[in-house]
Parts: sequence; C-alpha cells; structure tokens
Amino acid sequence: MSSTIEPSPPRRVTLRTLEQMARRGEPFACLAAYDATLARWLDRAGVHVLLAGDSGAQLALGFERTIDMPLEVAIAFTAALRRGALNAMVIADMPFMSYQACQAEALRNAGRFMTEGLADAVKIEVDASFAPLVARMTRAGIPVCAHIGLRPQNVGLTGGYRAVGRTAEEAMALLADAKALEEAGAVLLLLEAVPDPVAAAIVEQSGVPVIGIGAGPAPHGQILVAHDLLGLSDTPPRFAEPAAQIGPAIRDAAAAWTRQVSARTLPTDAYTMPATELERFQHLRRTNPPRIAWPNQEQA
Ligand code: KIV
Repeated sequence: MSSTIEPSPPRRVTLRTLEQMARRGEPFACLAAYDATLARWLDRAGVHVLLAGDSGAQLALGFERTIDMPLEVAIAFTAALRRGALNAMVIADMPFMSYQACQAEALRNAGRFMTEGLADAVKIEVDASFAPLVARMTRAGIPVCAHIGLRPQNVGLTGGYRAVGRTAEEAMALLADAKALEEAGAVLLLLEAVPDPVAAAIVEQSGVPVIGIGAGPAPHGQILVAHDLLGLSDTPPRFAEPAAQIGPAIRDAAAAWTRQVSARTLPTDAYTMPATELERFQHLRRTNPPRIAWPNQEQA
C-alpha cells in the first residue's frame, strides 16, 4: 500500500473563507476574467476569487472604455466564470449605469447577477454617497464589494486614470468612504490605485476583507486582470508585471498553423475509411459524376 497522502480536494471558496484568511493574515488571490475556459484554468491554479470585470468591455469586446460593457454581456460573462470554475468565489462587476440611475433598478440588476449570473457577490464602484444603496442591496441579501479609490467608470468626470488619496484630504475622504460603505453592509472593499500608506490605514480600520489593485502589499487580497498577468494585454498597468507571455505564444502558434495551411502540410490520416468502402466510393464517383461543380474562374 502506498504511503503517499493524497492532498485533500480544494473546497469552494466563500466569503467566510476570505474572512478567515484575512483574520489569519493569509493573503488571497483574485483575477478578473471573462470566459469559462480561462476560469477553469485559473480555478485549477487555486485562484481564490474570479471577477467578471467590466474591463472585459476592453479586453474581451474590444471597446475603448469600461463603460461600454453591456449589462446582458456582463451577466453572461459572470455565469461563464461560474460554469468554468469549480471552487473560486465569483464576483460580478456591475457595469456603468446598471446601478447609478435609481435604487430599484440597481437592486433588480444586482438580483439578475445573483440569479442569472450565478454570482456570489456583486461589485460596484462607489463612494460614501452610495452607502444607502449598499444598505438596500444588503437588506435584500446581496453581498456587495465596494470598489473605491480609482473608479474607472468615473474617468469621464475625473479626467483620467490617476491614483486617488495622494493628498492628506483625499486620503481622509477615502478612509471615510471605506468606513461608510462597510457600515452600510459592504462585505468586501476593493481599493484601486491608492498609495500604500492610505491602503494600509484602510486595512487597519476595516472589519471586512480588503482587496487591492495598485494599492501596495497591505490589503488582504490582491487582484489583477488575468490578461495583464498572462501577457495578453498590449498596455498592462505599471503594477501588473506579466508572469507569462501567452500573447506572443498564441501569435507564434497561430503563425505556425498559418504556414502549415499555406503549405498544405496538414496531417492527412486523421480519419480513414475501410479499403473496401474506399474502392466502392471511387467506383460510385466514376459512375455518378457530380452534376454541380464550382464554376471555373473564366465562367465566374
Ligand atoms: O474590471 C476589472 O477588471 C476591475 C479590476 C478591479 C480588476 O474592476
């Protein structure tokens, strides 16, 4: 009998798991992705949380801005992650104008992410003024991740992608946002593009797990866009060092395939037919010439 101990199968990650990890000081890993195949591989790697990010508007749909993410597509991306990942917690990123216009609409849309999108939680880009919405969602049983700091859905207003909390006043305002949203019921906070000391202060004051992106090492969890991590993005942000070069690997494999196709050097024996059938087929073709053929170029 072998004495090797089988590793226990990974368990489904829940909010409780993240809270326990945060309490124990064990960092957790999150990635934004948009499809079931990538989700399956990221899940196999042990990534704890998958976010169906609105960055998919740019990286999966080719738009220039995240605000162009259609609601229906965001729901479909979220459900795709859930179907692909056995264990990771799946968070839906609510797109621009799916929660800002009015609370009733926001609630209904968040509900769709939970039911049709099979999400474990929804993320919204907010400040303290959204605390009443977070409270209503929480009362309805929807776990909310409050995304503060740089809010890409607001860049039209703020004039671009810039770090937030670089002045003492801005830093204090961020701390107040974090507190108000947590008090309203947010179960997770996500800090984007915040100076390290400000992120550390938010982590220190928070009673919920804090996820960071471009917010230094203090947050309990870190998130990146999988395309940036895997070397698929042309312009990854400065804090996202690619850990692989999948983009160039895809290009090289596709170029090799294109050369094979051009040179007609494809494998030809994938499917065979019994010799007797081949003989009969050849006989049938000789005796029944096809009536319709492609016109040759002169006729066309
Ligand atoms: O849309 C996104 O990918 C995000 C980030 C926080 C990763 O919101």
